[in-house]
Amino acid sequence: MKSETKKAATDSARRDFIKGAGVLAAGAGLAAMSGASAFAQGTGNSAVPKVLQGKTALVTGAGRGIGRAIAVAMAEAGANIVALDIGQDISGHDVPMSTSDDLAKTVADAKAKGVEAVPVLADIRNLDAHEAAVAKALEQFSRIDIAVANAGVNNNVTFTGTSKSDFLNHWNLNTDVNVKGTANTLRAILPHMRDNQAGRVIAITSTFGRQGNDMNPAYVASKWAIVGMIKSAAIEMGAHNVTVNGIAPTGVVTGLGGPKTAEELAGFNDWMRNNYHKMPVGMLQPEDIAGSAVFLASDAAQYITGTIIDVAAGANARYTA
Ligand SMILES: NC(=O)c1ccc[n+]([C@@H]2O[C@H](COP(=O)([O-])OP(=O)(O)OC[C@H]3O[C@@H](n4cnc5c(N)ncnc54)[C@H](O)[C@@H]3O)[C@@H](O)[C@H]2O)c1
Repeated sequence: MKSETKKAATDSARRDFIKGAGVLAAGAGLAAMSGASAFAQGTGNSAVPKVLQGKTALVTGAGRGIGRAIAVAMAEAGANIVALDIGQDISGHDVPMSTSDDLAKTVADAKAKGVEAVPVLADIRNLDAHEAAVAKALEQFSRIDIAVANAGVNNNVTFTGTSKSDFLNHWNLNTDVNVKGTANTLRAILPHMRDNQAGRVIAITSTFGRQGNDMNPAYVASKWAIVGMIKSAAIEMGAHNVTVNGIAPTGVVTGLGGPKTAEELAGFNDWMRNNYHKMPVGMLQPEDIAGSAVFLASDAAQYITGTIIDVAAGANARYTA
């Protein structure tokens, strides 16, 4: 490729990456096309230590992507799984949500690891529905030891480059799902963990909860809000032996929105490998994020709370303390 063409492709990939705001996703097909990361932290064999044996984990947004990978990795580590997802599209949001069939696959994949797993359909925007989902889970499992607040949405709307109605819809969507929805997950689960005087909560923020980005400020603001929630809940729950931590992933190939073709994905991968990450890797895979969640839920992380783990191949070294 001539250098100018290469530069144009790289610039275009960079623009696309920024448009995708690092929330770069394309579903299982593209996940396969992109190839597994050479640095996968994910689990995948029977030698995985059963560090969560006998625990029960609730994972929101478990129908696909990072949520599914975390649910399956926790199952592999021995935890029973309550897999929660919405199971229907969100009105006014142009990215399809995962389906009840997707959720059934997560449950099947978890069960294949030799644990119990149940699907729960609920919209995290609705606190009553979320509380009912937790109650249903507790009918099956006597307690919930781990909660992963993972469900989230993104699309790209700037402050100035869009219509007033798109601007309002976008801010409402990000606020309702990412901010209030994540707060609802904490509210639905923390009283139970307080009563048990034990628990592990892991919320999924983003590299965009650690820095600014000009293409999707509502998403960025929502992910910063999750960092604030993590730290506040860690302070509130410390006395109850409940830890609350976060994971801030870089771009991961999922269904969140992002490259739609193999060519686009290749552009994203090139740009991230060459310009964004410090390690020689492009977009990560959902399994690359899951190991950190297992760690935070394990005994090894007993006294870690109020912390964010950046799983960002060194991009974070530029901007986090
Ligand atoms: N993919 C990335 O590049 C990336 C990077 C950093 C952070 N994240 C974060 O990771 C988390 C998981 O995203 P993903 O990339 O796996 O995307 P994804 O779209 O593949 O998965 C998100 C899941 O959340 C579910 N969901 C959305 N709204 C919901 C609601 N109101 N109630 C219940 N379930 C709902 C969806 O149905 C879907 O199954 C999100 O919080 C996202 O912001 C993703």
